[in-house]
Amino acid sequence: MKAVFGIVGLGVMGKSLSRNMASKGFRLALFNRYVQDKEEAVAENFIREFPELEDALGFEDLASFAQSLERPRKILLMVQAGSATDQTIDALRPYLEAGDILIDGGNAFFKDTESRISDLKEAGIHFMGTGVSGGEAGALNGPSIMPGGDAAAYEKISPFLEQIAAKDINGKPCCTYIGSGGSGHFVKMVHNGIEYAEMQLIAELYALLRWGTQLNPDEIADIFEPWLSGPANSYLLEITVSILRKTEGETFLIDLILDQAANKGTGSWTSIVASDLGVAIPTITAALFARFQSAFKAERVQYASQFPMHPEMLEVDVKELLDAYQLARFLNHQQGFVLMQQAAIQFEWQLNLSELARIWTNGCIIRSQMMRDISHVFSESQLLLAHPLAWHTLDAGKEALLALVGKGLAAQIPLPCFSASANYMLMAFQEDSSANLIQAQRDFFGAHTYQRVDDPSGKKYHTNW
Ligand code: 6PG
Repeated sequence: MKAVFGIVGLGVMGKSLSRNMASKGFRLALFNRYVQDKEEAVAENFIREFPELEDALGFEDLASFAQSLERPRKILLMVQAGSATDQTIDALRPYLEAGDILIDGGNAFFKDTESRISDLKEAGIHFMGTGVSGGEAGALNGPSIMPGGDAAAYEKISPFLEQIAAKDINGKPCCTYIGSGGSGHFVKMVHNGIEYAEMQLIAELYALLRWGTQLNPDEIADIFEPWLSGPANSYLLEITVSILRKTEGETFLIDLILDQAANKGTGSWTSIVASDLGVAIPTITAALFARFQSAFKAERVQYASQFPMHPEMLEVDVKELLDAYQLARFLNHQQGFVLMQQAAIQFEWQLNLSELARIWTNGCIIRSQMMRDISHVFSESQLLLAHPLAWHTLDAGKEALLALVGKGLAAQIPLPCFSASANYMLMAFQEDSSANLIQAQRDFFGAHTYQRVDDPSGKKYHTNW
């Protein structure tokens, strides 16, 4: 009997997704490459280890793997993004036929996905760039899945993906067809951008409390934990509470972790693409730059010894902290969603943002109560900031956000994401800005011209300054 679904690449994510899918009763073909002394009989050993895989077939040669699959073949690639993905596609290519469907579940750059789609199109092979979020536990118990590419090909793979996906509060799968081309990987990239800022905002709250009020990590967790029962509930806040409570002997584990944040590139892509599309995502970019700057540890240590900036004690009101945090988060989401809206226009994707937010309400790293609210907003309006929910969040958080940023900076505690959100808010709601002065300067030194407020025709003027 042939297998109904194939998985290539048995790393952590590939293995967890395989177990998830096998536990739903699908007969799988599993492939892992052979690397002498390093990766030998990986699929076979893996199948032996878990009872749910007893029907699965294990391979380390691609010809037999492809042969074992029912046609059209449906194959999920769980290999490293970049050249490893291209090598895997090239190696598989001779064994594929028209109608077969390759699903790339890695964090690929959406433009690479689009080239792969067009490279394989001639042979009638469908390539589905598919965002998968939720880490190892998500992959095993139900990730959020963002498939993009050919809509008809999606119909053939949806029974598999929707079965293994997390379920939302109404029991619907957190998997939906995103759109054509590289849209699936695009939205996953933006998901990660929002993720960076969600993480950094929590890190900044932690910094304020740790250095501004001298609370220890456990006491900070005591402040965050009750928030989990209200509108600020999120997976990232939840894991932060656990992280802050973790000790090693007498020491908080957080104090033993080197303060240099790494990244694998998706946050940079988000910022680069936003610049290409002319969309301001300052909170997300601030989170990315905070990671970059943290990496210069040696320099920080040297500068601090020469010119110390000591955090000062500050008065923190927990309610103010929460309101400011919620508003800063809301503005972070606003930036990510506007980026997707602009991409949809530019690349002619029919993105359904309400549905997209819905599949991010469970399974993925940025799942939260706020995401549920945002899904609701987009079912009624396409302008997040023009919705009553935004006004409510702004009403509750505006003063708090501005006060927090002011106090925090005065106390010499860096707040890149909170500050970026505060500035974003002020600029987004500013009827008259100082951009006219920029236009005048451009015209002065470069005759770049400007438009006049007393001439609505849009005519370009130049002044001999
Ligand atoms: C997810 C995560 C996942 C991953 C990123 C983190 O949605 O499951 O976003 O894709 O954890 O690789 O990226 P950085 O290494 O850049 O923080």
